Amino acid sequence: TILTLDFGSQYSHLITRRLRELQIYSEMLPCTQKLADLSWKPKGIIFSGGPYSVYDKDAPHVDPAFFELGVPILGICYGLQEIAWHESKTNVIAGSEREYGHAGVKAQRCGGQVDRLFDGLEDEMTVWMSHGDRLSQLPESFRVIATTSNSPYAGIAHETKNMYGIQFHPEVTHTPRGTKLLENFSVGICKAKREWSMEDFMVQEIARIRSLVGEKDQVLGAVSGGVDSTVAAALMKEAIGDRFHAVLVDNGVMRLNECAIVKETLEGHLGINLTVANGTEQFLSGLKGVTEPEAKRKFIGGKFIDMFEAEAEKIEVGAAKDAGKVKWFLQGTLYPDVIESISFKGPSATIKTHHNVGGLPKRMTEGQGLKLIEPLRELFKDEVRDLGRKLGINHELVMRHPFPGPGIAIRILGEVTPERVEIARKADHIFISMIREAGLYDQISQAFAALDPSKAVGVMGDKRVYQYIIILRAVQTTDFMTAKAFPFPFDFLDQVSTRIVNEVDGVCRVVYDCTSKPPGTIELE
Ligand code: XMP
Repeated sequence: TILTLDFGSQYSHLITRRLRELQIYSEMLPCTQKLADLSWKPKGIIFSGGPYSVYDKDAPHVDPAFFELGVPILGICYGLQEIAWHESKTNVIAGSEREYGHAGVKAQRCGGQVDRLFDGLEDEMTVWMSHGDRLSQLPESFRVIATTSNSPYAGIAHETKNMYGIQFHPEVTHTPRGTKLLENFSVGICKAKREWSMEDFMVQEIARIRSLVGEKDQVLGAVSGGVDSTVAAALMKEAIGDRFHAVLVDNGVMRLNECAIVKETLEGHLGINLTVANGTEQFLSGLKGVTEPEAKRKFIGGKFIDMFEAEAEKIEVGAAKDAGKVKWFLQGTLYPDVIESISFKGPSATIKTHHNVGGLPKRMTEGQGLKLIEPLRELFKDEVRDLGRKLGINHELVMRHPFPGPGIAIRILGEVTPERVEIARKADHIFISMIREAGLYDQISQAFAALDPSKAVGVMGDKRVYQYIIILRAVQTTDFMTAKAFPFPFDFLDQVSTRIVNEVDGVCRVVYDCTSKPPGTIELE
C-alpha cells in the first residue's frame, strides 16, 4: 500500500486515482495523521500539493516520524517544500511570480543516467505547474534531478535516502506522462505490488459500510434510475441487505416509462426494497406558470425533499420490530462533485444550481439527524461503471447517459405543461431508441430531445399546421465541463426528423443543436 498524505490540493484524489489505474492500492489520509495511529506500514509515502506556504503561521506539517520510517517519500509541489522545510527550514521562498500552466521539464543526467524517477521518460516532457512558493536552494545532501526554465529545482532527490520532491503535478492529465512517473515511484522505487482491483474496492467498501452502519441501523437512499444512485444502491444492498430502502420520487418530468424501468431494475434485477412516491400531480401543478430555469430547479428540488421526507417517515414507521432506526442517508456523490465543492479558491460561481453539491441532503441530514454515507466519493464515472459491472448490473444500465434531476422540465423552454411533457417525452424516446438501434449510444455522452414552445408553420397532408419545434441535442464529452456536438451523418438526422414529425402529434419541425460547450451548456436551460 502507498500512503498519500493530503495537504488539501484540489488534485490530491487524482494521485489515488492514478495509482488505482496502475493497480496499486493506496490510501489517502489527512496530513495531520500520526504515524503511531497507523495500524499498517506503507511501502511508500506521497505528500500531496496544498494551498499553503510552509511559512504560514498555521501551515500543516507532517508528523516527523514519517521521515524516520525508512520508506521512500515523494513530495509533490507543497510536498516538495515540506521535505525541504523539514530538512533545513530555510530553502523555500515565496515565488516572485506564481507558475501556473504547462512547462517543459528536463530530466538531469548523472553519469549518463536519468534518475530512477524519470526512467523510461523522454528527456524533456510536458508537465503541469501550479504553485506560488518554490525552492530557493538545494537542501543539504540533495541533488537536482530535473529543471524547467523557471525552476532550477523542479525535481530533487536525496543522495542516499529514497526521498524525492517534484515541483510539478504528475497526477493531472495535463502532465501526459505523469502516470509513468508515479509508476516509477510506486513500482520501481517502493516495490509496491500491482494487485489492486475494483473487486478489492468493492469488498473493502462493503466491509467499511457494514462496520459504519452496524448490525441494526437502516439506510435510506434516493434513486433516480441513473448510474450513480443505482450503483450506490446495489453496493448498499450487498452490504446490509433489506435494511437499505430506496425511494424513487416520480416528479412527473421523467423520461417515457422511466418509473417502470427503474422499478424493474431495482426490484427485479437487483432485489432492492423500493418505494415509488408518485408526485406527478403535485409537481406539474406547482410548475404551472413557472418559466425561469432556476425557478424550475428550485421548485423541483424543494418539492423533491418534501416528498422524500414524507416517504422516509413512513419507512421508519413500517420498519420490522428488530430493525434499528433509519440513521443514514445514502448519496451517490462522485469525486468530480467533491472537487468542485472543496476547491480552495472558494466555491466557483453558480452557473446552474446543481453545481452546488450538498444543497440537497443538508435539510435531510440536519433536519432528521441522518448521517451521510457516500461510498462512491473517491471514484470517477468510469470507475463507478466498472464497479456497477462487478456488482452484476447490466451493461445497458451502467452505460446510461446522465439525466438531470429536474428532468424534462429543463428541456422544455419556458412553461412546463402536461401536454408539452408528453410531446418532449415521445420525441426523446424516438431519438434515443434510434441512437441505440444505430449502435451509437455508447459513443455519445448525453443525448435528448428538447421542446421549443414557440411554434412554426408547416404543411401536413395538404393542410397548414402551426406546431412546436423539437430540438435534438447529443454531445461527446469526458468531463461534462466542455463538450462537442456529436457529428451524426445527415441521413440519420433526416430519419429521426421524419419519425418524430410523423409519430408525435403537435410537432412539425425538428432541428439539431450543434453548439459546443462553451459557449452553450449541455442542457438548454
Ligand atoms: P450543463 O447543462 O450545466 O450540464 O452543461 C452538465 C451536466 O449536468 C447535468 N445537469 C443537471 N443535473 N440537476 C442535475 O441533477 C440539474 O439541475 C442539472 N442541470 C444540468 C446535465 O444533464 C449534464 O449532464
